[in-house]
Amino acid sequence: MAMKGLEMEPGLIEGKIRSRRQYSVKWNEYPKEVLPAWIADMDFGIPPLVKEGLAEAIELSETGYAPRKLTLDYLEAFSRWQLEEHKVSMNASEMIALTDVIQGFYLSIEALCAKGAGILFLTPSYPPFFSSVQATNRKVLTSELVLHDRRYEIDFDDFAKKAEQANPGGAILLCNPQNPTGRVFSTKELESIAQIALSNDLWIISDEIHADLCYEGSVHIPIMSVAPEVANKTVTLSSASKSFNLAGLHTAVLHAGSTEILSRLESIPQGLRGSPGSLGLLAGQIAFSSGQQWLEETLQKLDVNRKLFFELIEPYRDQLRSEMPQATYLAWLDFSGSLLKPTAQQYLLEHGHLALNPGENFIENGRDFARLNFATEADLIPEMTQRIISCLNG
Ligand SMILES: Cc1ncc(COP(=O)(O)O)c(C=O)c1O
Repeated sequence: MAMKGLEMEPGLIEGKIRSRRQYSVKWNEYPKEVLPAWIADMDFGIPPLVKEGLAEAIELSETGYAPRKLTLDYLEAFSRWQLEEHKVSMNASEMIALTDVIQGFYLSIEALCAKGAGILFLTPSYPPFFSSVQATNRKVLTSELVLHDRRYEIDFDDFAKKAEQANPGGAILLCNPQNPTGRVFSTKELESIAQIALSNDLWIISDEIHADLCYEGSVHIPIMSVAPEVANKTVTLSSASKSFNLAGLHTAVLHAGSTEILSRLESIPQGLRGSPGSLGLLAGQIAFSSGQQWLEETLQKLDVNRKLFFELIEPYRDQLRSEMPQATYLAWLDFSGSLLKPTAQQYLLEHGHLALNPGENFIENGRDFARLNFATEADLIPEMTQRIISCLNG
C-alpha cells in the first residue's frame, strides 16, 4: 500500500532509482534496505543536451584523446558562464582544466605554499580539506563556525588569530558556498576574509564548486571579485560536477588570479597535473553553454525538498538541530540532543537504515553530527525524515 500522499510506495521509488543508478557509489555502497543520503550527487539525471552530446560521441566511438580545441571550448564556456551567472571575468587563458577540484587543492598547495606552512579553513569542513593539507605536509589550522541566530557565522577574532599562525607562505582554503553548512558568504564577510589574507600575506584557494546552487535570497560572490589585489592572491576552483551532476566525468577547472600563480602552477609538470578526458570536457562545455534552464528547474526541485525536510524536522528541534542551507543540497545535522551511540551516523545506519556522512569527518569531536544529501525524488523526503525521527532519543 502506498503511503498517504505518495503516488508510489517509497520502496518502489527507491527501487527505480537504485536500478537506474547502478554505476553510482551513492546507491551501491550499502545493502538494499538502506536509503542512501550521503555522498554529494543528485538523483535527477543530467541536462538533456549533455546527454545527447555524450550519446552522439559514443555513437561515433569518439573516445580518443581530446583535441586542444575541446579543452579551450570547455574553458571558454566556463568563462562565459562565470561572467553571466556570477559577474566575474575569468579568462580562459588564465585557467587550467583539471580532473577534480580536490586535485586543485593539492596542486595549489604544492605550487604556492611553503612546506610546513599553515593552511587555514573553517570547520565543519568538507573532509578533503583536512586530508589534502595533511598529505602535502602542511599544517592544518581550523576556525570553527559559530551558530548565531540560527546562522553559522565566522568568528573573525579567532579566524584572524589563526591566520597569523599560517604565515609565512600559507593559505586560506575557503569553501564558498560552504559544505556542509550551506552558508553563502556575503560581500562583507568575503572582504574581511580577504583583508585577513592580504595582511598576513596568505594565498586564497577558493573552492566555489557549489556556486550555482544558491537558493532565492542568496547570491554567490566569487572572492576574487572583491578587489583586484585579492584576485592577485586567489586560485578559484570549480566544476560542472555539482551544478550539472557530472561528478563521474572528472572534469574541473582552476582559475589563477595572477600570472605569478599561473606560472607557479604551470611549473608543475603536465604529467603530474593530468588532464580531463574528452567526454568530461564535452559534457562540461555543453552544460556551461546551455544548462541554464535545467539548472533552474533542478534548483526548484531542490528547494521543494529543502523546505519540506526542514518543515518536517522542525517539531523535533530539541533532539535534532539543523539550519536551512542558503545553498547546496546538503544539510548539517546536530544530533547532540539525541545521544545516539556510538556515533550519530552509525546509529542512523544501523537502526534507521539511512546512510549519511559521519560528522567526525567534518570536525573534531563531530560524532553527534552527520551530513544529509536531500537531492533525491521529493517523494522520498518524508521517508528519509521518518527514518531520522524514528531514531531520535536512541
Ligand atoms: C566543497 C566540495 N569541493 C569539491 C568537491 C569534489 O569535487 P569534484 O567533483 O571535482 O571531485 C565536492 C564534492 O562533494 C565538494 O562538496
